Amino acid sequence: MTTVTDVRAKAGVEPITMLTAYDAPGASLVDGAGVDMVLVGDSMGNAVLGHDSTLPVTVEETLSHTAAVARGVEDALVVADMPFLSFGVEESESVRNAGRMLKEAHADAVKLESGPHTVELTERLVQLGIPVMAHLGLTPQRVNELGGYARQGTSEADAREIVDLARAHEEAGAFSLVLEHVPANLAAHVTDELDIPTIGIGAGPDCDGQVLVFHDVVGLSDWTPPFAKPFGDARAEMARALGDYVEAVESGAFPGDEHSHVEEDLEHLY
Ligand code: KIV
Repeated sequence: MTTVTDVRAKAGVEPITMLTAYDAPGASLVDGAGVDMVLVGDSMGNAVLGHDSTLPVTVEETLSHTAAVARGVEDALVVADMPFLSFGVEESESVRNAGRMLKEAHADAVKLESGPHTVELTERLVQLGIPVMAHLGLTPQRVNELGGYARQGTSEADAREIVDLARAHEEAGAFSLVLEHVPANLAAHVTDELDIPTIGIGAGPDCDGQVLVFHDVVGLSDWTPPFAKPFGDARAEMARALGDYVEAVESGAFPGDEHSHVEEDLEHLY
């Protein structure tokens, strides 16, 4: 079993791998591929729940999907992504929601889309024994405030704020930091500044690790962000298999004798 200590120890030593997964078979595939961490991302909103943003994802949905992922994983660290407004409103409610991810869904850690408002909360969660992965740069839960999903940290003030918040979350006890859709030179600088590992997505090659969304990697998404790379064409392969099934049923080719059972002893009844 991978622990947060194992992940921290890899910083600057070996590349760290993380992928999202949302169900047990997907988690088993991702874990079998040898990733260090499986993130039950709130990207489930877009990837599997049919929403056009991550905002509608609920605590109950995250618990259910995280529990399924935890059942499918043998080795990787399971990180549950805290959904929009499940944290940051009231501290006690945030702590309770984060705690449920470990107690009920068997996550090993939680991820918080971070900002100035999550520094104290990170400290509190870590004190209570809930490991926290921070997340800076593009934080999609703020899509309405940001006006879209554009690259972040492109002005001097924004870049400085990201560096300061990265340090503050490290000091607060976060065990790692996701940097999403930020310039590669900013991500390289943050990585140099911190002892905890940075995990990049659209943040260039110099982070300690990389994360992508499952559906983007296997080629299941109908849209992929410019920084993601499909490593397969699962959509085409699934469409072929499903089409072949429909054709086989319609033509009578399926089920064949090898897929059917005849109860010889009861032949006299029919
Ligand atoms: O929800 C998610 O999948 C994420 C990753 C893209 C980092 O937050």
